[in-house]
Amino acid sequence: MPLERTAIYPGTFDPVTNGHLDVVRRASRLFDRIVVAIGTHSGKRPVFTVPERLAHLRQICQGIPGVTVGSFDGLLTRAVRDFGAVAVIRGLRAVSDFEYEFQMALMNRELSPQCETVFLMPSPEYSFVSSTMIREIARFGGDISPFVPPEICEQLQRRLQEGTR
Ligand code: COA
Repeated sequence: MPLERTAIYPGTFDPVTNGHLDVVRRASRLFDRIVVAIGTHSGKRPVFTVPERLAHLRQICQGIPGVTVGSFDGLLTRAVRDFGAVAVIRGLRAVSDFEYEFQMALMNRELSPQCETVFLMPSPEYSFVSSTMIREIARFGGDISPFVPPEICEQLQRRLQEGTR
C-alpha cells in the first residue's frame, strides 16, 4: 500500500468549469495527491485540444496542494494503474448523474477489481452547470463568467465565435 494516497479525477473538461474546480478542491482535502486527468469520451468532439485543456487545468489548479494535471489515452482503469491511484473521483451534481456514474463505476470495478470510485458533491450553486451548456451560452454571446474560471472565459468565447464566422 503506497504511503501517499493518490486519486485520479478524470473528465473531458471541455471546458473546465467552476464546478469541476470545486470538486478538485474537495478532493485535495481527502487525498495526498490528485491527478486531474483528461481522458477520451468516444462520443465527444472537444472544442479545445488536449494540450489546450491541460494548459487550462494547470492555470486553474496551480496553488491547490497536491494537485497535478495529466492526460491519458484508452481505458480509465489503465490510467488508474499508471498514475498509481487508489481511487477515481467523480462529481455527482444531481440524481440525474447517478445512473450513468453508477454504471461507469461498476464497469470500471469489473475491469479492475481494485478500482474504487469516490463520489463528491459539488456546491449546490454548480449543480446545474455542464460544459455543454457553457459552450452553448458562449457560442451565442451570453455571460459565462459565473460558471467558468476567468482565465478560460475569454479563450472559450474567442474559440466559439471563430467557429460561427
Ligand atoms: N461541475 C460542472 N460540470 C460537471 C461536473 C461539475 N462538478 N461534474 C460533471 N460535470 C459535467 C461536465 O461538464 C460534462 O458535461 P458535458 O457532458 O455537457 O460535457 C459532464 O458532466 C460529464 O463530463 P465529465 O465529468 O467531463 O466526464 P465524461 O462523462 O465526459 O467522461 C471520461 C469522461 C474520460 C471519464 C470517460 O469517458 C472515460 O473514462 N474514458 C476513458 C475510456 C474508458 O475507460 N471507458 C470506459 C468507462 S466505463
